[in-house]
Amino acid sequence: MLQAPIYAHIIGWGMALPTKVMTNKEISAFVETDDDWIFARTGIKERRIANEEESTATLAYTAAQRALEVADILPLDLDLVIVATSTPENIFPSTASLVQDWLNAHDAGAFDLSAACSGFVYALNMAADSIRAGSIKTAMVIGSETMSRILDWQDRSTCILFGDGAGAVVLAASEHPGGVLSSVLRSDGAGSDLLAIPSVGSIDAEESRAGANGYKLYKMYMAGGEVFKFATRVVNESIEQASKMAGIAVGDIDLVIPHQANFRILQAAARKLGIEIDKFMSNVEQYGNTSAASIPIALCEAIDQRRIHDKDHIALVGFGGGLTWASMIIQWGIPKPSEQHGSLLNRQRRNALYQMARLRSKSRRWRRRVKNTINEIR
Ligand code: UT7
Repeated sequence: MLQAPIYAHIIGWGMALPTKVMTNKEISAFVETDDDWIFARTGIKERRIANEEESTATLAYTAAQRALEVADILPLDLDLVIVATSTPENIFPSTASLVQDWLNAHDAGAFDLSAACSGFVYALNMAADSIRAGSIKTAMVIGSETMSRILDWQDRSTCILFGDGAGAVVLAASEHPGGVLSSVLRSDGAGSDLLAIPSVGSIDAEESRAGANGYKLYKMYMAGGEVFKFATRVVNESIEQASKMAGIAVGDIDLVIPHQANFRILQAAARKLGIEIDKFMSNVEQYGNTSAASIPIALCEAIDQRRIHDKDHIALVGFGGGLTWASMIIQWGIPKPSEQHGSLLNRQRRNALYQMARLRSKSRRWRRRVKNTINEIR
């Protein structure tokens, strides 16, 4: 008997932003820049900066809880947690494993995905493919960053651009046609010297320590002009490719949710695609560039602003370090963005599971220590 095709739909979404706002004026107090330059060249007015208690994992956790709330499912229903990030909590364990533990998603696999600012689209594609292949039913896909921790705050060409935040979606199997229709993932490692954060194991690490090549270990470096040219080339090209794969014309796209790097990049892409700039979602003014988090945050805000309707074709497009770029076409389906979710009983069960998760981890660690101590005494 022929099996009905499986589709992968977004059924929940959530975002988390630090409360601390840093304005352009505040940045101009410690590097030589000003609000007029930053706004005119990038469209950015302010960004959010994590406090001491906030991290890539805590922001991801809050965004994920909110996404579960909208989907109105339990963390136990998750089969997979992916966190796209360039600012992971650790090299390992993955930030996704921390989030999986805190959520009490104990039947889920978890891993981080590194594709810089394209990471969220890459991760969504991986989850959608796993769902459509039938190997999983439900995934939590998160983009989360604390860019403020890897910025060189003396470098005015990068420190003005970035901010912190997280966005998450729940992706689920459905027989309802639509959801993720197509994805185009690309990379050009020849551009790896244009945008980087040298880290443990980097062949540049020793030189980095000495500062010989201009890189600083664990600090971001970007050749902005080159990356700008690359971005304005690939955004429209990859949206065109993803549209073709989805069997739609570019003119059928109802809303583009692009990576929020620079408003001028969006203007150039809109011009080249022949799409009105109004069809590009942008919140770069308030949050700056939050790397892998920028697309899911913009998606959440587009839903809140009721810019997404049933059956709409949405284009996601990411671009950044690697170099990497990625586009995806989604046909919005279930549930309707205006629907209110969250039954009281399920909310209580989720909260109980979050409480139990903390206790479960603590007791497991405690039991391990006691066992080790007993073994040592023996
Ligand atoms: O998320 C990953 C993807 N990232 C991107 O897509 C970022 C792409 N790049 C960009 O958005 C832009 O290249 C920047 C916003 C980073 C820079 O804008 P630009 O128009 O390309 O400026 P520029 O680097 O060509 O610099 C122009 C001038 C230079 O001065 P001179 O050499 O002309 O005298 C810079 O030194 O502006 C100067 N400048 C600044 N002036 C005031 C550079 N940064 C600043 C600053 N404030 N913050």
